[in-house]
Amino acid sequence: MATTILKAEGAASVEYAARIEHVSKSFAGPAGQQLVLDDITLDVAPGEFVTLLGASGCGKSTLLNLVAGLDRPTAGGITTDGRPSLMFQEHALFPWLTAGKNIELALKLRGVPKNERRGRAGELLELVRLTGSYGKRVHELSGGMRQRVALARALAQDSRLLLMDEPFAALDAITRDVLHDELTRIWAETGVSVLFVTHNVREAVRLAQRVVLLSSRPGRVAREWRVDIPQPRRIEDAPVAELSLEITEVLRGEIRRHGQH
Ligand SMILES: Nc1ncnc2c1ncn2[C@@H]1O[C@H](COP(=O)(O)OP(=O)(O)OP(=O)(O)O)[C@@H](O)[C@H]1O
Ligand SMILES: [Mg+2]
Repeated sequence: MATTILKAEGAASVEYAARIEHVSKSFAGPAGQQLVLDDITLDVAPGEFVTLLGASGCGKSTLLNLVAGLDRPTAGGITTDGRPSLMFQEHALFPWLTAGKNIELALKLRGVPKNERRGRAGELLELVRLTGSYGKRVHELSGGMRQRVALARALAQDSRLLLMDEPFAALDAITRDVLHDELTRIWAETGVSVLFVTHNVREAVRLAQRVVLLSSRPGRVAREWRVDIPQPRRIEDAPVAELSLEITEVLRGEIRRHGQH
């Protein structure tokens, strides 16, 4: 079974996958310290799917990088249930390795014994519906296929938290729709928690159980919505469109309020 290897092994029971407490982040800029994130407090529950939504430059990637441990907050604290795995807009696959070997490398780094790696990589490729692409090199894959391999590689890390930074932004609308369906299915099958960054309101509503809207300059939690629309959803479903409209109005207000800086 493809899913069994993705379940957390001997997971301790914690009540969050990520806990962000009073986090602020400043960067040194030409005009002194620039406050990018201001007092962000946010939990992601185990198995929860949260989208982080906000205008360009509001600090979404900065926050995700902090949760990933790639950078440190200026103030506040972040704890995660184990080390999270990451997926970005660019696939960041190694072009000299095949799809399968890219996944096997992640398994190797996780300490999976050599004789198990090939089989597990095959299972992960099956999970992202790329059976048969094991031996393909990155340049032989379409953009959507590359993102699937990147997703399989992220899942190979067997983390309980998946951090995704606009992973489908560069794809055409139809491929993106398909990958939304796949991600929703994989999320349900594996029980992984997801913190997904996007500036696309419809995408946020299509995917999440909870949408968290960040304001700009500095980024603060402006509002959040629980999304009770049953899955699988389609991006063009009326309830998705309706809630997206409501969120867009609030987002526009945020941009108007902060845009003139
Ligand atoms: N390492 C850094 N040094 C200085 N400033 C930074 C650094 N990283 C980000 N910033 C600044 O922090 C702000 C937020 O950037 P960030 O990349 O987090 O935005 P974002 O919400 O992800 O935007 P987008 O939707 O365009 O990806 C920007 O003003 C950016 O210039
Ligand atoms: Mg970003």
